[in-house]
Amino acid sequence: MTADALKREAALAALAYVTPGMKLGLGTGTTARLMVEALGEKVAGGLKVICVPTSEATRAQAEGLGIPLTTLDDEPKLDLTIDGADEVDSSLRLIKGGGGALLREKIVAFASQRMIVIVDQSKKVKDLGRFPLPVEVTPFAHGATALRIREAAGACGLNGDVVLRQREGRTFVTDGGNYIYDCSFGVITDPAALADRLATLPGVVEHGLFIGFANLVLVAGEGGVVSLGSL
Ligand code: A5P
Repeated sequence: MTADALKREAALAALAYVTPGMKLGLGTGTTARLMVEALGEKVAGGLKVICVPTSEATRAQAEGLGIPLTTLDDEPKLDLTIDGADEVDSSLRLIKGGGGALLREKIVAFASQRMIVIVDQSKKVKDLGRFPLPVEVTPFAHGATALRIREAAGACGLNGDVVLRQREGRTFVTDGGNYIYDCSFGVITDPAALADRLATLPGVVEHGLFIGFANLVLVAGEGGVVSLGSL
């Protein structure tokens, strides 16, 4: 099976947990996109849900599919968020933000009673850190903030490249108008310690470590979809 086919399997498996009347958070990325596409078919078939997108890209896709949307300001509590991830470990800790939507993804996941993460088997890792950790920063003094990020990582025994994300020859700008540094620290031995240190840095808006968010991870592989955790 191709990676896309596996992503679709995970996406479809997640939709089995969606029931009429739910308030849903819609993730961002290629896997979440497949989930939103399939959700759109269910909505067209009469399923009643109301959703909060985690990015402008997901908003545009959902709008195009006729999925009813709202905001967290109007609906501050959601039943379920379904989102992808860049890495998942066996404690259901995640690295997210490869698509640049980590800030809204974390806000929406935090507002949700439950979170289902949908991934293909390539995302399941023993230790987080093979995927560079995205850290969203304010444009103001971002170079200085990058130094602080390096120091914070150093205090956790980590070091490596901290690189300002570029896309098509320009600095990547998030939906919130911020920048992202991709941090190649290698194996993150203590994700909670690093998360705590990054969270204290002025200039850091959010980081891509999602600890204690995922309730259920659906991992699609050649042998089918394996569930880690439970709702
Ligand atoms: C978006 O900012 C990310 O957190 C995505 O959820 C994550 O990168 C997974 O994306 P893919 O499904 O495209 O791999």
